[in-house]
Amino acid sequence: MNTNIWKVDKYVDNLENNPQVVDAANFLRENEVVALPTETVYGLGGNAESDEAVAKIFVAKGRPSDNPLIIHIADRKQLSRFVTEVPQTAAKLMDAFWPGPLTIIFKKKDGILSEKATAGLATVAVRMPDHPVALALLKTCGLPIAAPSANSSGKPSPTKAEHVLDDLNGKIAGVLDGGATGVGVESTVVDCTEGIPVILRPGGVTREQLEAVVGEVREDAALKDQSARPKAPGMKYRHYAPNAPLYMVSGTKKFLQSLVSEKQQEGLRVGVLTTEENHRFYKADVILSCGRRAELQTVAAALYDTLRSFNQDNVDIIFSEIFPNEGVGHAIMNRLQKAAGHKLISE
Ligand code: TXA
Ligand code: MG
Repeated sequence: MNTNIWKVDKYVDNLENNPQVVDAANFLRENEVVALPTETVYGLGGNAESDEAVAKIFVAKGRPSDNPLIIHIADRKQLSRFVTEVPQTAAKLMDAFWPGPLTIIFKKKDGILSEKATAGLATVAVRMPDHPVALALLKTCGLPIAAPSANSSGKPSPTKAEHVLDDLNGKIAGVLDGGATGVGVESTVVDCTEGIPVILRPGGVTREQLEAVVGEVREDAALKDQSARPKAPGMKYRHYAPNAPLYMVSGTKKFLQSLVSEKQQEGLRVGVLTTEENHRFYKADVILSCGRRAELQTVAAALYDTLRSFNQDNVDIIFSEIFPNEGVGHAIMNRLQKAAGHKLISE
């Protein structure tokens, strides 16, 4: 399949009539799948009401069919078509964070969305992305759009159109290239179907921000306890992995460097995932910085791109610094743990 590349400047006026956006919207109406930029990561969009379109998403990504998709909308009025009720907590969260990196789980109306999109669950995940190109595309096609991250299943999520093409070129109808995404980690997924909201996946909106709006917010037990079964089916899979095994290292820079030197003596090519502040300290074959520790949102923005870069550099093993597990650091550590398959070396 020929994959179209539609470059769009997200700052131009009247994006809804932009020929590139109109072209992409037409493919969506014909139940083809198209990658689109959002403020978090690129999504792979398809008509959420079409089994045919949704099946194409799963095939292109190689995604397990028991993992439901997030439905993207441009207008809150679209909710009533496929959601039975909007609880008060959800309404408050939408007021505060939509459009933005927050996905809310609602009870689902049957018979509207493709059952494949919701993996047969009685609930549905919905979000309104805060990206002018995504919103223009959603308005132009007029459909609810199912969109998982636009990577091959298991790979780091794409934060640039190049990443999408690395994984999906020839497998999808096209990609709207709106430049690099901003937030860099995916949306926070919060379940509002049972009273007190529960975070199923940490992401771009922090627990502290949610609590400031709705009071108490809980976290799915599986986020702390690896043996618990996560409520978001996707959270059980290993994700975001670079090709080489990745180890998180807890301890001093000196300790991390000693691990590097030991592996180099064994003849391995060793990578280090670090930050601007600490970069100078290390001697290794490949040393990549993923942002500034003092501003963790820069780490969130660059993390996936940095994980992907190690693949080009052909390292045999990667050691990574770890981050404070609070604020957006919570989402960063969640993704890093998955990328490392929870392998942690402590001093
Ligand atoms: O930022 C994002 O959320 C990006 C952009 C493209 O919008 N999308 C994204 O989608 O990260 P995906 O498919 O990679 O992750 C969706 C997550 C999975 O962990 C899935 O299991 C969970 O949301 N999910 C979807 N529907 C659910 C439901 N009804 N109940 C519980 N979890 C659900
Ligand atoms: Mg994903």
